[in-house]
Amino acid sequence: MSAASPCTMLAAVVVILVMVVAHGFAGVNAGEMDHFIHVRSSVKTDEIKNNGTLQVPRMEFGFLLCNASSVTTDDSTHYWDYYVEWEMPTEAEKDNSVFQMGNEYQMPHSYIVFQEFKSNFTGRYRCRLHFRSNLVGLHTVYLTLPDSPSLTSTTP
Ligand SMILES: *[C@@H]1O[C@H](CO)[C@@H](O)[C@H](O)[C@H]1NC(C)=O
Ligand SMILES: *[C@@H]1O[C@H](CO)[C@@H](O)[C@H](O)[C@H]1NC(C)=O
Ligand SMILES: *[C@@H]1O[C@H](CO)[C@@H](O)[C@H](O)[C@H]1NC(C)=O
Repeated sequence: MSAASPCTMLAAVVVILVMVVAHGFAGVNAGEMDHFIHVRSSVKTDEIKNNGTLQVPRMEFGFLLCNASSVTTDDSTHYWDYYVEWEMPTEAEKDNSVFQMGNEYQMPHSYIVFQEFKSNFTGRYRCRLHFRSNLVGLHTVYLTLPDSPSLTSTTP
């Protein structure tokens, strides 16, 4: 055995690792899986489109559901590789009457529940879809009160 062997082997391992990492990231660019995210609410039956606005009546008790359960799974990709979470306006985050639930591992969905919807709950809510801790999808919904001007139309 020559003295170069361990070095050569190490180089080979590094090359393989780099290839694995590069391949791993290649399929999971942020935004690539936006279309797997479906957002529904208790307020209206229609799906809420990405960047859509939802008017929530004052004092409404309801929820938003971010559902990415249609993600593809196979022998090497499982539901537990995905994780879904909501990002919400700071004012809503500080308030105990808005909370997130159902975002357990193995379940690529998450509910955001609001009690007595009020003006300081309005703003940008963003559902983030992660694949093996990489952000792969985003779906943004703007919540407003019915009397506020909407940012974009929710009607198809
Ligand atoms: C939503 O808005 C973001 C930023 O404003 C934009 O990059 C994205 O393309 C929009 N997506 C859709 C589906 O309209
Ligand atoms: C989430 O989406 C999946 C697949 O599209 C569907 O089968 C399931 O019923 C949805 N879950 C809820 C709670 O709506
Ligand atoms: C939101 O507004 C309500 C009054 O409408 C107030 O009681 C509450 O403290 C506010 N929450 C935050 C986090 O400022």
